[in-house]
Amino acid sequence: MKKGVNELPEELFLLVTGGAGFIGSNFIKYMLKSHFDIKITNIDKLTYAGNLKNLCDIEKDKRYSFLKGDISDNNLINSLFKRKHYNIIVNFAAESHVDRSMLDASPFIKTNVKGTLILLEAARENKVDRFIQISTDEVYGSIPKDRKFSEKSPLHPNSPYSASKASADLICRSYYKSYSVPVIITRSSNNYGPYQFPEKLIPLMIRNALLDEELPVYGDGMNIRDWLYVIDNCKAIDMVIRNGKIGEIYNIGGNSEVRNIDVVHIICKILSEETGKSKEYLDGLITFIKDPRGFAHDFRYALDCKKIKENVGWEPSTDFIEGLRATIKWYLSNTDWIKSVITGEYKEYYNKVYGKR
Ligand code: NAD
Ligand code: TYD
Repeated sequence: MKKGVNELPEELFLLVTGGAGFIGSNFIKYMLKSHFDIKITNIDKLTYAGNLKNLCDIEKDKRYSFLKGDISDNNLINSLFKRKHYNIIVNFAAESHVDRSMLDASPFIKTNVKGTLILLEAARENKVDRFIQISTDEVYGSIPKDRKFSEKSPLHPNSPYSASKASADLICRSYYKSYSVPVIITRSSNNYGPYQFPEKLIPLMIRNALLDEELPVYGDGMNIRDWLYVIDNCKAIDMVIRNGKIGEIYNIGGNSEVRNIDVVHIICKILSEETGKSKEYLDGLITFIKDPRGFAHDFRYALDCKKIKENVGWEPSTDFIEGLRATIKWYLSNTDWIKSVITGEYKEYYNKVYGKR
């Protein structure tokens, strides 16, 4: 490794990209709550997945500012750095949904690959103290039961989404090796929690069950994901910023491997307890459908997280059932938020993926 842990200045000025999305918005709120001496600018293109309502409780905080913009717009990113000096870039901005990447890969390449490159150039030019690339366990590909991926495992991405994220990781590595840009990469497992767009498994099932619509489970529902509560991930990223070593990669797992079908049954159970609808009725909404992703779906993701535990001092603290209950309670109290994200675009997407049967 070329560098050890670099001291960070007391007052941090973060450029957070994609901060109007699910994890980014939770992260901004977590950081403002946890640290006094911090300033954050959020740049977000506000795609279908970006929503300023996610941030309405902090929008008046003087330490926070928002700019609508695209990370793949070179001039815009350069002009941002001419106005202010950011110590840290945290790059959440991405096209993030595997199923959409099967329909059209091009926005994934533009944002996830080209956008990351433009941010890395800005980091290099402006000598930032940290460049945190928010990556995913999906870059490792699928893994059979009883094995786990470590940070040294080879990259075997199977979808256009995961290939674009793996490409970005490799460009990040090259900027660290070639130009000493102080890059750290985090690779987390599947997140869940408040403000997740209802195209991903957990919020989609919660939304559909609330509306008495079918609960579409792909294939036989035996695929396994390791579920990470979003606030645990936010805490991990914060700790990686402070205690992580430049040039390193950190896996961030939830230590909660669950089969998809079991996730859906647990959602039905909790929803039944919280709403009074019968569990049998909700279970009856489960419909097994052909995996719309065709051949490329991954059976299992699983991470070995020894490195972040031993070197950074982080481990997940939220039990899956507790986290899921908190998430479901959030969706129950925020039905207006759900309504606001169900736009014409969502309905069109939904019909394309689920409608043709
Ligand atoms: P999300 O889809 O909810 O949010 C993405 C945000 O990025 C949106 O606000 C969107 O408007 C913004 N964005 C998209 N293209 C942009 C562009 N060109 N310029 C600026 N902003 C743009 O995604 P998420 O679930 O919050 O994921 C955030 C990051 O975490 C992504 O990089 C994703 O790959 C990674 N990740 C997500 C998960 C998960 O389970 N959700 C797991 C591992 C890693
Ligand atoms: P998802 O939440 O989309 O995340 P990812 O594909 O990035 O892991 O999907 C999680 C798992 O749930 C995946 O195996 C596909 C499955 N799934 C369904 O069975 N039905 C659905 O409607 C969705 C969205 C996902």
